[in-house]
Amino acid sequence: MQVAAVIGHPVQQSLSPALHNAAFAASELDWRYVAFDVAPGAAAAALAAMRTLGIAGLSVTMPHKEDVAAAVDVLAPAAAALRSVNTVARDEGGRLVGHSTDGDGFVASLAAAGVAVAGARVVVLGAGGAARSVVDALGRAGADDIAVVNRTAAKAVDAAALAAAGRVGALDDVPTATIVVNATSVGMGTADLPVDPALLRGGQVVADLVYHPLETALLAAVRAAGATPIDGLGMLVHQAVLQQEIWTGRRPDPAIMRAAAEAELLRRQ
Ligand code: ATR
Repeated sequence: MQVAAVIGHPVQQSLSPALHNAAFAASELDWRYVAFDVAPGAAAAALAAMRTLGIAGLSVTMPHKEDVAAAVDVLAPAAAALRSVNTVARDEGGRLVGHSTDGDGFVASLAAAGVAVAGARVVVLGAGGAARSVVDALGRAGADDIAVVNRTAAKAVDAAALAAAGRVGALDDVPTATIVVNATSVGMGTADLPVDPALLRGGQVVADLVYHPLETALLAAVRAAGATPIDGLGMLVHQAVLQQEIWTGRRPDPAIMRAAAEAELLRRQ
């Protein structure tokens, strides 16, 4: 049996064990996925434990993504650009390789919904870790224009610099965007809106990275405006699909992961 795990703090709320174990079971892979609560500052020790215990794959969540990026042996390109790691794998020589699958998972979730990024005009609301991964991946996927809008201006400058098509934007970019992404935490567990819905237009695609609640106030407003909503489980599922592909060489079924995530969210209500 192979073991994979998520490290984070806190970690008990993570949906990753439910997603990964459902997909391992469906692909008849003899893998198990567990959650380890790792105290802030202990990421390097957790990587040492990974080597010692022979753990085959790690997911990395808050607050360890930057510390793990500094402690692995090799960084894949997206992780190097972001200086952030959400996935650790072993290569054939036993080296620990850090990847970042969040942004590519987001782009894959758009593709799965039939939304093309190439040539798109995108507004990214937020400039934290999630927003940075999205800007980087949208740039590599060929977006025409990526306007980053954030409460703290200096962080928008940094995030926009991750893509050649990136720039610091403003809320008046929203009406002319083809894709709008909420990568702020606004709406998590509240009915707050990250953007005035009056700025949204029918025909736009609006993706919310928040998935608690699954139907955020933003997504309800998006439906009312006649635009296309994409919920936050899309990125969560597709970044996990990419993780399993990296660890096992096999692509799991996103629908199985999505169903497991929805069931787990329902169970917790
Ligand atoms: P994550 O890892 O989920 O991206 P993060 O790095 O803490 O989390 O980033 C949170 C993002 O949500 C930031 O862009 C933050 O804006 P600031 O950079 O100005 O802090 C944004 N955010 C959080 N609360 C907000 C609020 N009440 N209004 C506007 N933006 C908010």
